[in-house]
Amino acid sequence: MNSLTVQRSEALIGQVRVPGDKSISHRAVLFGSLADGVSRVRGFPRGGDCLATLECVRRLGIEIEEAGADELLIHGRGLHGWQEPSLPLDCVTSGTTMRLLAGLVAGAGIFAVLSGGPQLSRRPMGRVAEPLRKMGAIVLGRQRGTLPPLAIQGGNLRGIDYRLPIASAQVKSAILLAGLFTHDLTVVVEPGPSRDHTERMLRAMGAPVHTLGAKITSEAPTTPLQPLDLRVPADMSSAAFLLTAAVLVPGSVITLEDVVLNPTRRGLFDILRRMGADLRISEETEVCGEPVGHITARPGPLTATTVAGEMVVRAIDELPVLAVAATQAHGITTVRNAEELRVKETDRISTVVAELRKLGAHIEAQPDGFIVEGPTPLRGAVVDSHGDHRLAMALCVAGLLAHGETTIMDTECMADSFPGFERLLVKLGAEVS
Ligand code: S3P
Repeated sequence: MNSLTVQRSEALIGQVRVPGDKSISHRAVLFGSLADGVSRVRGFPRGGDCLATLECVRRLGIEIEEAGADELLIHGRGLHGWQEPSLPLDCVTSGTTMRLLAGLVAGAGIFAVLSGGPQLSRRPMGRVAEPLRKMGAIVLGRQRGTLPPLAIQGGNLRGIDYRLPIASAQVKSAILLAGLFTHDLTVVVEPGPSRDHTERMLRAMGAPVHTLGAKITSEAPTTPLQPLDLRVPADMSSAAFLLTAAVLVPGSVITLEDVVLNPTRRGLFDILRRMGADLRISEETEVCGEPVGHITARPGPLTATTVAGEMVVRAIDELPVLAVAATQAHGITTVRNAEELRVKETDRISTVVAELRKLGAHIEAQPDGFIVEGPTPLRGAVVDSHGDHRLAMALCVAGLLAHGETTIMDTECMADSFPGFERLLVKLGAEVS
């Protein structure tokens, strides 16, 4: 089992680009495969989750050339061009891969089995299975169709009008994607503003996807989907670790290049700013309908805050590292309405609380979040990632603040989303081995 040892850090200084956005990359490969023609995707991150999507799409009969270190040429075969796969589609650890594929397999009218490793096999799939059944697909799975593996027979779907019980971009996307294959309108109403990369990318490709407040619709395109040509912007969820480190380690100045600044993704940025961090945006541009820019982060005296409601949805993947920031903020930080954390790669309420406590944090679990009292000096210890990439990296950030040495066990998982995390930390001046 891999481990990393992190020393308490001096100022972190430098300008770096974190890997391409995971959510956008999954979508670029999946949607590119449905376009008429060749899509060119640069800056594709070679993290485990995105590679899982790449292999699944290949198994659906799509040719994908890998040109250079991070460029893909996806030979799209049109909306109806997928072939029925003779082997299961292995989504490995990636919930996004499984849930988006579920919608597309249902729409494409083929039969496929979607499987994953032990971690993914514990994650809830009833949330996609149920609406897809309502649209007419047959979706079977363990525990009455609620857990992977899923066996899906798609085809002949009808549009639905569906109110999402939870704010989930994966479920929203699965339904909207299935809606591209029906003869009527599909309407999804979301309870909170989940990430909208599916809508933005499909619109950029010419698909009839419309957003009116919390209501999003999709229907069959009347013209072929246009191929993509994009450079994937840097992932805000990966940038979050370096941004938080810069905010917490005295004297640091870090610039993160080309980060996706989509409002549905920049919750952590907004929360840290509200807490007093010095965060600035420059070089703003737009890529494939997504706002992008450089972020420069410096420390500031942090004050505790409350995170609830819509802000939780906008920062859902960043809440583990926010917990680390909260240990250094003055006062009591409360995160609530975040029960979704319990069904991520791990039960992130339990694992974040258990591991940060080992470092001396004053943090308590709540049914739907956690409470942190700060500021607390952290002390180095041996901690465990539980195989959860975001927890592993959040613990590395905590290690940069802790007195003495922090060893994080089971760090291989960091490459699920952020290959090269350790190398970038070292480049910025951290002592990690
Ligand atoms: C994602 C949506 C979110 C997020 C995940 C990526 C996506 O999950 O936590 O890391 O790319 O659509 P949910 O849809 O389950 O909230």
